[in-house]
Amino acid sequence: MTGVGSTEPASSSGAGLAGAGAGTNKPSRYASWTAGKLPLPELVEMKRRGEKIVMVTAYDAPSGRLADAAGVDMILVGDSSGMVMHGRESTVPVTLDEILFMTQWVTRGAKRPLVIADMPFGTYEASNEQAIGTAVRLVKEGGADAVKLERGGTSVARAKAIVDAGIAVMGHVGLTPQTATVLGGFKAQGRTADRAKELIDDAFALQEAGCFAVVLEAVPAPVARKATRALGVPTIGIGAGGDTDGQVLVWHDMLGFYEGHRHAPRFVKRYAELGDAITAALGRFAEEVRSGAFPEEQHTYTMPETEREAFERRAGAAPTATSRRR
Ligand code: KIV
Repeated sequence: MTGVGSTEPASSSGAGLAGAGAGTNKPSRYASWTAGKLPLPELVEMKRRGEKIVMVTAYDAPSGRLADAAGVDMILVGDSSGMVMHGRESTVPVTLDEILFMTQWVTRGAKRPLVIADMPFGTYEASNEQAIGTAVRLVKEGGADAVKLERGGTSVARAKAIVDAGIAVMGHVGLTPQTATVLGGFKAQGRTADRAKELIDDAFALQEAGCFAVVLEAVPAPVARKATRALGVPTIGIGAGGDTDGQVLVWHDMLGFYEGHRHAPRFVKRYAELGDAITAALGRFAEEVRSGAFPEEQHTYTMPETEREAFERRAGAAPTATSRRR
């Protein structure tokens, strides 16, 4: 197998690599630590060391910066943006331009995490040429470090073509929201022996195509465990239990970034209630504007006293035609 998804050891001793920072002031967490970007091959080393990989979605520069500051390993500029940011019912209408803009914003904010740009529905299925063209734009114009596409089937050949063009690809199997209609809706996948086997075969085919990691979405934990053990490349789970090599959650879901208590899938854990915090803050702002409590002295600009007095004298006179034009 070739490409970034290779399971060949990068060194004869994973243990030796893990200690690369020993005796220096540099963190020893990453085998090939540098001051900049997390090196892509490090992900397979993390799998080998049993170190969990952390991924979160983000859609703009501040969220990219915050995810970087929190120490996440990968940021996905997901087409979930269509639903959580833009109020759509599905990810299907998301366009390449939208993902391109958001990827540019995220990469301005996030320096160390690998930034993965989702390939939107309709931008890679038709041919390998179409898929390469889309991936090139996401890397070249968006600044992405890698791209992600959904499904097995024809996506395997698309993934291989993109990898052969020199771009890192992440696969995505299980619940693939772009084709949720065909799957019968937003529901768990691989719940029969046959479907579970197909799902693992798809994940394996994506690895063989050169994918550096595979997302497993909404699949039973035993199936995800089996896939994780079978694959040399890391699996990133979302609703796939605790035995995948890493976990990903959608920004708005995990931070409760909704008005009210919107229903989230069962696999989501909320680490904050930002929607409630924002609504409460806006309510306080409205109340203080209406009561005159805001702005206070500290939020207000002053001017030199002599200028103020001169201004008061002049402001007493009615505006002239000249002063009105200015
Ligand atoms: O678009 C997205 O956010 C995703 C994740 C749910 C994996 O594909």
